[in-house]
Amino acid sequence: VRRKLIAANWKMYGSCTRVQDFLEALIPRVDPAGPEVVVCPPYTLLPVAVMVATGSPVAIGAQNCHWAEEGAFTGEVAAPMLAELGVRWVIVGHSERRRLFGESDETAAQRAAAAQRAGLSVIFCLGETLEEREQGHTFAVLERQSKALEGLEPNVLAVAYEPVWAIGTGRTATPQQAQEAHVFLRRCLAELFGDSAADTVRVLYGGSVNPGNAAVLLSEKDVDGALVGGASLDVGSFSDIIRSAPEPPTGA
Ligand code: 13P
Repeated sequence: VRRKLIAANWKMYGSCTRVQDFLEALIPRVDPAGPEVVVCPPYTLLPVAVMVATGSPVAIGAQNCHWAEEGAFTGEVAAPMLAELGVRWVIVGHSERRRLFGESDETAAQRAAAAQRAGLSVIFCLGETLEEREQGHTFAVLERQSKALEGLEPNVLAVAYEPVWAIGTGRTATPQQAQEAHVFLRRCLAELFGDSAADTVRVLYGGSVNPGNAAVLLSEKDVDGALVGGASLDVGSFSDIIRSAPEPPTGA
């Protein structure tokens, strides 16, 4: 049975005091026997976030990393630098990076590999645009994007299905649309890693997740968690989302 994973993507929001207050309020509400919880604030907030979360059931993640270990890459941050801080996760290939910052399947793959080499776990994002969905290309896009996962270590990998049309729009995928895409992605994972490894990789849903829709999405069999943007900035709504994950079946 896959343990649910609920991750907060703060995007370019927050401040040191805000992330400290958020984590101090969140940590006592997190049940260590419940879903795994990861909070991904902007780079500059990572040291304070790690400091507050150390020893708690909340792990801290970054929102990107470079593919080189070091080098002349002004403005970039290398995966070993994140690992040194105590960061445990990194989001790679988010659609905002693909759309606004020239991220491709190839560069996302390289960043993910570098993150894993540095000992970080990866949340690899993919998903179709509205136009791609309307033209019936959803599965072809997901298959192409998921090929970038080849060669990664499945034990320290989660995939986030984030349909671009659902991000920041208030328009979520229906539970059926999410489940169907997740089953398809798991089949792609099985091609890459074999059936048993594919069975262990968590496939998260992202796109306008909120306390009102999280429970139905998370109760789908192949929806193994959520990557939450806007609703993760408020500790009340983020902890409500965590709490809405169904209990794992006992004895499993
Ligand atoms: P929203 O939850 O704000 O739609 O953002 C989703 C997202 O992009 C998470 O990575």
